[in-house]
Amino acid sequence: MAAEPYYVTTPIYYVNDVPHIGHAYTTLACDALARFMRLDGRRVMFLTGTDEHGQKVEKAADDLGISAQDLADRNSANFRDLAARMGYSNDDFIRTTEPRHIEAVQHLWRVLLERGEIYLGTYAGWYSVRDEAFFAESELIKGADGKLLAPTGTGAEVEWVEEPSYFFRLSAWQDRLLEFYDAHPDFIAPHSRRNEVVSFVSGGLHDLSVSRTSFKWGVPVPNDPGHVMYVWLDALTNYLTAVGYPDTDSETFRTFWPADLHMVGKDILRFHAVYWPAFLLAAGIEPPKRVFAHGWWTNEGEKISKSLGNVIDPLTLVEEYGLDQVRYFLLREVPFGNDGDFSRSAMVQRVNGDLANGIGNLAQRTLTLIHRNCEGRVPDPDKGKIDGPDDIDLRLACGPSLLAKMRQDLEQQRFDIALQEMMAAVAKADVYITANEPWALKKTDPARMATVLYTLAEAIRSIAILAQPIMPDAAARLLDQLSVPEDARSFAHVEDQEIHWSLTPGTPLPKPEGVFPRLEDKAEA
Ligand code: MSP
Repeated sequence: MAAEPYYVTTPIYYVNDVPHIGHAYTTLACDALARFMRLDGRRVMFLTGTDEHGQKVEKAADDLGISAQDLADRNSANFRDLAARMGYSNDDFIRTTEPRHIEAVQHLWRVLLERGEIYLGTYAGWYSVRDEAFFAESELIKGADGKLLAPTGTGAEVEWVEEPSYFFRLSAWQDRLLEFYDAHPDFIAPHSRRNEVVSFVSGGLHDLSVSRTSFKWGVPVPNDPGHVMYVWLDALTNYLTAVGYPDTDSETFRTFWPADLHMVGKDILRFHAVYWPAFLLAAGIEPPKRVFAHGWWTNEGEKISKSLGNVIDPLTLVEEYGLDQVRYFLLREVPFGNDGDFSRSAMVQRVNGDLANGIGNLAQRTLTLIHRNCEGRVPDPDKGKIDGPDDIDLRLACGPSLLAKMRQDLEQQRFDIALQEMMAAVAKADVYITANEPWALKKTDPARMATVLYTLAEAIRSIAILAQPIMPDAAARLLDQLSVPEDARSFAHVEDQEIHWSLTPGTPLPKPEGVFPRLEDKAEA
């Protein structure tokens, strides 16, 4: 059976700001999924990029006294740079100022207009520039000084906007959206978020203003260039542009659309789970299969904000703790979908507990024993009696069974659970090593010693292969230490383990070196 293709997207990031941990987190989650699916033999399209139009960017550029295009060029480069330095494996990086995208959005606009889904009117209502969103008066909250604020918890002030505007007939899509959610129970995740969206839509939908006339920085509306498109209509369409829209007959489009997953933060779920499927259904295009809204990080218990000066720069974290350590921590620490708190002590505990004392220690012990007792070569298991029940048990637990569990978990974006399963496999290997005491077998039963060490090496090989999506560098170094060839590192080489042993006895191994150093807890010291 040919493996299904997999298309995963990050939100595209506003270029009014520098990259921070929130951006790094969303893209990291997608990167882990993309790597997992590729290793699992699937053809993957992993997309990220920058959202460059809109009033917010225009204002930020004005404040700096530069053109919006210059600001976009400068900050888009920062996001691209972050992607490179974080080792993200994105297949494309889209910018909404690119011609391919402008063509796609204008095409979608024409389709919606032709189908009678867009009409010209006048907008009079509240707008939050920070959120680039319209709000009904009933949704607003009063700030301490009596100012009206958007209900997004960002403290963003709203302003009154009155201008000619095109509208999308969102109100007409209420029932069809509810039917769509019903027919696709996995469309919105996690489940609690799904209920929020359903109750928002059930409460009634207003037509949505989809063009603006009071500023210029946007995609011109075809045949009415006094209007620029609403930045969210523009931005959401990037997911189509990158797979070749408007050429819906292209191989890329047919392979990857509908997208398997739009990963977003909880603050932008409404745009992805209400407006986006409505636009698509209205244009006769199939909506994506799933939208996952993840939670927000705080810093040592505090909300992260520029004004508090506690914004976390992902590159500083990486410098301090190591890239794979940061990747592991962010994906393991909180149940994916919940909010999480970044703290130094949590980071140190997690890295030392799971990585240094867990996988790292298991590998170091095993490789050192092999180095000392087996002449630094892959041990030759006693083929006649290798398959004692606990040998087989360990191989399955660290190999095919772990793969099967992780597949299920990652299909549902449960990174934390997948990593717990992995650590349970490591713990099982620790129990095996203690029970079998390979160090004591050298004199009494060297053949059994070789089998035990071979079994452990196989367990580590499988775990390292499965750890690659989360910790690509460290996993690669572990596999190097087992002399696993580059072309034998895909998940197929874990699944096949049941049939044959994969490490070749007698293969020389490099001198063992620790892969996960212990972090010092400065708070303790
Ligand atoms: N441009 C829009 C998205 C358009 S997608 C068609 C946008 N950009 S953003 O740059 O403001 O935010 C991007 C992502 O960063 C969001 O998913 C948001 O949830 C995430 N985060 C911002 N701060 C965050 C934290 N403190 N923690 C976790 N994620 C956070 O919205």
